[in-house]
Amino acid sequence: MAEDLQNIELVMLTLEDFEEVVVLTKHHFLKRNPLFIAAKETSESYGESSELTIKSALDSGFSLGFREKTKKKLVGVNLTLVQNVNQLLKHDTYKLTKQSAVYRILAMIDADATMFPDVTCCLYLLMVCVHADYCGRGLARMMTQKVLEMGRERGIDAACVQAINTLSARIYTRLGFETVKSLDLSTITDELGLDLSLIPQQETTIKLMLKR
Ligand SMILES: CC(C)(COP(=O)(O)OP(=O)(O)OC[C@H]1O[C@@H](n2cnc3c(N)ncnc32)[C@H](O)[C@@H]1OP(=O)(O)O)[C@@H](O)C(=O)NCCC(=O)NCCS
Repeated sequence: MAEDLQNIELVMLTLEDFEEVVVLTKHHFLKRNPLFIAAKETSESYGESSELTIKSALDSGFSLGFREKTKKKLVGVNLTLVQNVNQLLKHDTYKLTKQSAVYRILAMIDADATMFPDVTCCLYLLMVCVHADYCGRGLARMMTQKVLEMGRERGIDAACVQAINTLSARIYTRLGFETVKSLDLSTITDELGLDLSLIPQQETTIKLMLKR
C-alpha cells in the first residue's frame, strides 16, 4: 500500500481544475454513488447547477485532490464549501434543480443553524470521490482528514456532510462525525420515482452527519 501511495500526491484544487473534476465526478461519482443510481440521475439531469456548486467549492480554498505524480492524472477529489451557518445548505442550486430527484432528496435532510448554536461558519463537505482504480487505499479518509485540519487552522471547527454511501459514512464516523438525521429512501420511493432494486439494501439510508 505504501508503494502505491508513492505515485500520488495531495494537491489543492482550484477553478483551473474544473474540467478535470467534472470528468472524474461524472464517471466515478454519478455512476457509482447509490443515491444517484437509485434516482437514475444522469449527468444531463444533474447538470448545470451541480457545475455551479462545484465551481464554488473549487473557489473555496478547501477543496483537495490526489494526482498521479507522473501523468498528473486526477484520481480523487474532496470538494468542500465554507458556509455561514445561517445559510447552511440552502443553496440556490436547490431552486435551480427542482427537476433533480437527488437535490430534492438532499433538501429533505438539510442541516440548519440550530444544530450549530455556538458557531458561525461551517465546512460543508460537498462531495468525495476516488477513481475506482485507486479505492481502498485510504485516499478519501486522508483528504477528509486534511480538509478538517485546514478548517481548524483557519478557525472553522464545525463540519457537516450528507453521507449517501456506507463507506463514506464510515470515514466520517471514524473522524468524529455524529449522525443527527437519517432518511430512509424506502419511505419516499414512490414520491420521487426511486428504484431501490438497483442498489444494495444497506445503501438505502442517507445520513446528515455533523462534527462540532
Ligand atoms: C466512497 C469513496 C469516496 C471511498 O473512497 P476510498 O478512497 O476507497 O476510501 P478509503 O480508502 O479512505 O476507505 C475508507 C474506509 O472504507 C473501507 N473501504 C474502502 N473501499 C472498500 C471496499 N471496496 N470494501 C470494503 N471496505 C472498503 C476502507 O477500509 C476504510 O475503512 P476503515 O477506515 O475502517 O479502514 C469511493 O468509494 C467513491 O468514490 N465512491 C463513489 C462516490 C461516492 O459514493 N462518494 C461518497 C458520497 S457521500
